Amino acid sequence: MSLGGKAAIVTGAAGGIGRASARLLAVRGASVVVADMNPDVGATADLIREAGGQAEAVVCDCATAAGVEAVIASVIASFGRLDILHANAGISGPLVPSLTTGAAEFAEILRINLIGPWLAITAALPHLGAGASIICTASVAGVRAGAGGIPYSASKAGVINLVQTTANALAGTGIRVNAVAPGLIETPMTAPLYAAARERGREDRIGQLNPLRRGGEAEEVAEVVAFLASDAASYVNGQVLVVDGGLSSSLPFAPRPAGQ
Ligand SMILES: NC(=O)c1ccc[n+]([C@@H]2O[C@H](COP(=O)([O-])OP(=O)(O)OC[C@H]3O[C@@H](n4cnc5c(N)ncnc54)[C@H](O)[C@@H]3O)[C@@H](O)[C@H]2O)c1
Repeated sequence: MSLGGKAAIVTGAAGGIGRASARLLAVRGASVVVADMNPDVGATADLIREAGGQAEAVVCDCATAAGVEAVIASVIASFGRLDILHANAGISGPLVPSLTTGAAEFAEILRINLIGPWLAITAALPHLGAGASIICTASVAGVRAGAGGIPYSASKAGVINLVQTTANALAGTGIRVNAVAPGLIETPMTAPLYAAARERGREDRIGQLNPLRRGGEAEEVAEVVAFLASDAASYVNGQVLVVDGGLSSSLPFAPRPAGQ
């Protein structure tokens, strides 16, 4: 699982899953460029450096060509290579499905969640060689309904297809492309949901729909990202690894009362 000698990019790394991923990639030995439109991404680089790792931060919109080019330029200037791309930046949009979402709002969610990873992949490709690993953050919301708004779910379904089609388009290169699909994870994105549950004294209800009966931690997603980034996953390609406590493994049903 060692990533020694490798250089990585993590987008959306100001907090949450991106920060956890960047920190773990660095612990495993990778030099990391962390990028986010939120300037707090500088604190992620500080945390990595304080722990003895190598990191640079770039503040930019990771869903523009100029933004991703700046991130690529930083990793090449700082570390001279690129081996791992974790395209993770995303926004949720409205959490509840609505049939009145306007086209502009829909387009913005697709721009950040789906076109952003595509731009990052295409900008990274000239610098990637055999053994390189691309990981995109999808979501269980992209697998089926029930975990987000319509544009968000559609964008994440797009991410799943993006890694499948890109893995195949890269046949023969030795570059692997996979996605991680988290379930409910406590991060700044889900903070309002957790806060509302805590306010109502319903924290114990969080994550009760999955068989592990709890929400997940960003570090639990980072472990899967670090695996996909490593040579330990050398034959894993074009796949979606779901990290949801088992939520998506079952169809909804009403459990029978005990004794019936
Ligand atoms: N938290 C969950 O339950 C959950 C579940 C499934 C998938 N995800 C996905 O995980 C990823 C990380 O989310 P998180 O939960 O850590 O929340 P988060 O809000 O902490 O992380 C998302 C980060 O992306 C950044 N970002 C958004 N748009 C950007 C842009 N255009 N350019 C640069 N940075 C941008 C944000 O500033 C933020 O730091 C997202 O893609 C999200 O959709 C999260």
